[in-house]
Amino acid sequence: MVETACVSVTPPQPNFAPGPVLLLGAPGVGKGTQAKELMALWKVPQISTGDLLRSNVARKTELGIFAKTLMDQGKLVPDALVENMVAERLREPDTARGYILDGFPRTILQAAWLDRHLADASSVVAISIKVGYHQLLRRITGRRNCPVCQRIYNIYSHPPLVDGICDVDGARLAQRADDSESVFAERMRTYDAQTAPVLEHYRALGRFEEIDGEQPVEAVTQCVMAALARLRK
Ligand code: AP5
Ligand code: MG
Repeated sequence: MVETACVSVTPPQPNFAPGPVLLLGAPGVGKGTQAKELMALWKVPQISTGDLLRSNVARKTELGIFAKTLMDQGKLVPDALVENMVAERLREPDTARGYILDGFPRTILQAAWLDRHLADASSVVAISIKVGYHQLLRRITGRRNCPVCQRIYNIYSHPPLVDGICDVDGARLAQRADDSESVFAERMRTYDAQTAPVLEHYRALGRFEEIDGEQPVEAVTQCVMAALARLRK
């Protein structure tokens, strides 16, 4: 069942520990947007494998140069490379009360790796956001990002105050190299073939909720918080 129209959830207490939370869903469902909202509410880090890879691309590291070709084609970066990156990030002390994994795991093998890697794999809960194909295409082609503060905009649903300029730091907004219609179609094919089975992995374990992402951002956040409260009961 897809959870929709959630009742308002009480804001979390100051030392609330959400534990490991996975945000899953197709390209453009709002994983990054929601992770940023939840990071501010829960005071735990967002770990986005896409952002970590794009940072490597921007710094022209060996990983970044290799990953860029695959990312620009809408294909996945090999499991071992992404797993090493996640393992390194999870060693940081800011993950102690929990973290929001955005866009990982994306294959069944990555999910199996996470299960082996974590001391308490049963503490992992997965929340998937669902949005229809045409809405996703509009979100992807309308998305703009601030290269300085990483804020996410959309020319249709969340435009900046001044066209093309970040509200916060005045930087010129950029469009991701993989946000064209043709690469989006390939990313969706990759998602259906390789990531959709990950949802079934967590559903079978009984640690899974699916929510309706076609609501205003704040309403989706309420649904994620309500889903977490049920999963942690
Ligand atoms: P990644 O960066 O993870 O891309 P993705 O999964 O395709 O997801 P997006 O970041 O495009 O979308 P999102 O769900 O975060 O949506 P957002 O919040 O921005 O991965 C990129 C690439 O890296 C992959 O293709 C792969 O090559 C590689 N990679 C990454 N992880 C990997 C892994 N684990 N293994 C192997 N390879 C990996 O929102 C989208 C737009 O919609 C925005 O403009 C936003 O403003 C708008 N929006 C958001 N919410 C709403 C709302 N409720 N209503 C209206 N508009 C909204
Ligand atoms: Mg994202």
